[in-house]
Amino acid sequence: MTDLSPATPAIDTSKAHPARVYDWFLGGKDNYPVDEELGRQITAMEPTAPYGARHNRWFMQRATRMLAAQCGVRQFLDIGTGIPTEPNLHRIAQAAAPEAAVVYVDNDPIVLAHAEALLRGTPEGVTRYVQADAREPHRILELAGKILDLDRPVALSLIALLHFIPDEQGAYDIIRTLVDALPSGSHLVLSQLASDHDPERTRQAVAMYAAGGVTLVPRTREETARFFTGLDLLDPGLVWLPDWHPELAVDEERDGTPVPLYAGVARKP
Ligand SMILES: C[S@@+](CC[C@H](N)C(=O)[O-])C[C@H]1O[C@@H](n2cnc3c(N)ncnc32)[C@H](O)[C@@H]1O
Repeated sequence: MTDLSPATPAIDTSKAHPARVYDWFLGGKDNYPVDEELGRQITAMEPTAPYGARHNRWFMQRATRMLAAQCGVRQFLDIGTGIPTEPNLHRIAQAAAPEAAVVYVDNDPIVLAHAEALLRGTPEGVTRYVQADAREPHRILELAGKILDLDRPVALSLIALLHFIPDEQGAYDIIRTLVDALPSGSHLVLSQLASDHDPERTRQAVAMYAAGGVTLVPRTREETARFFTGLDLLDPGLVWLPDWHPELAVDEERDGTPVPLYAGVARKP
C-alpha cells in the first residue's frame, strides 16, 4: 500500500468534512466535534441518515462482488473512497479475485492518514491510495495509470461522491473525462443523493450542510441518469439504492426503510 501523493495536507478540524461526517454516521471514531455536530443535526431532521450511509456501503459491496465475481473485472478505481471501513472495496474484490488491483482516491487528508495503516490487500493483488481531488480527473488518470493498466477494463466507482460536486465544478465533465479514458468493457458505479424523494427534507439537509460549510448537491433521477450517457446500464437500471441487486447482499441488516439515493452500474460498450 503506497500513497502516491507528494505532500500531506493538514487536517482542518474547524469545519465539518464529508468523509468525517460519514464516518460518524457509520459509527466510526475518525471524526471531530464539528463533524459530530453536523451529523447529529442531520440525524435529528432525518433519523434514517446513518442507515442510509450503511446502505451505501452495502451497495458498494454488492456492486464490487458482482463486477469481480460475475463480470470478470480485475481493476478498480474508487474515487471519494472515504475513511477505510471494513470490509473495504479491495477486500470484496480480492476475495473474488486475489490478483485484483485497486486504486483508492480521496481529497480529504484524514483518509490519507488512515489509508496506509488500514488498506492492506492480498499479496497477489495491488492496493494503493492516491490523494487527489475528483475535480482533477486528468491528474487522477495520470496517477492511477502508474498502477492500473488503463488499456484494460476498469471499474470506476464514485459512490456517494457526486452530490458534493456541483455542476458548475464540472460534475458531468469529470465523469466524461474519466470514462473516455477507459476502454470498452469498463464499468461506472455511482450512487447519488436524490432531490426528488422528499424535496422538503432534502432542502433542509442542503441548508444544514451549507451552514456546516459543506456544499450538498442532490439530483433528480433524470439528472443522475445523465451521468450514464453513452453507457449501457446493467439490470435493474438506475434504481433506489436498496433495490440494486438485493440478492447479492451479504451481512446486510435491512429494515425496509427507504433510502433516498439513486444507484446504478453501467458498462462502456
Ligand atoms: C459520503 S463519503 C462516501 C465514501 C464511500 N465512497 C462510500 O460510499 O462508502 C464521500 C467521500 O467523498 C470524498 N470527497 C468529497 N469531495 C471530494 C472531491 N472533490 N475529491 C475527492 N474526494 C472527495 C469525501 O472526502 C468522502 O470521503
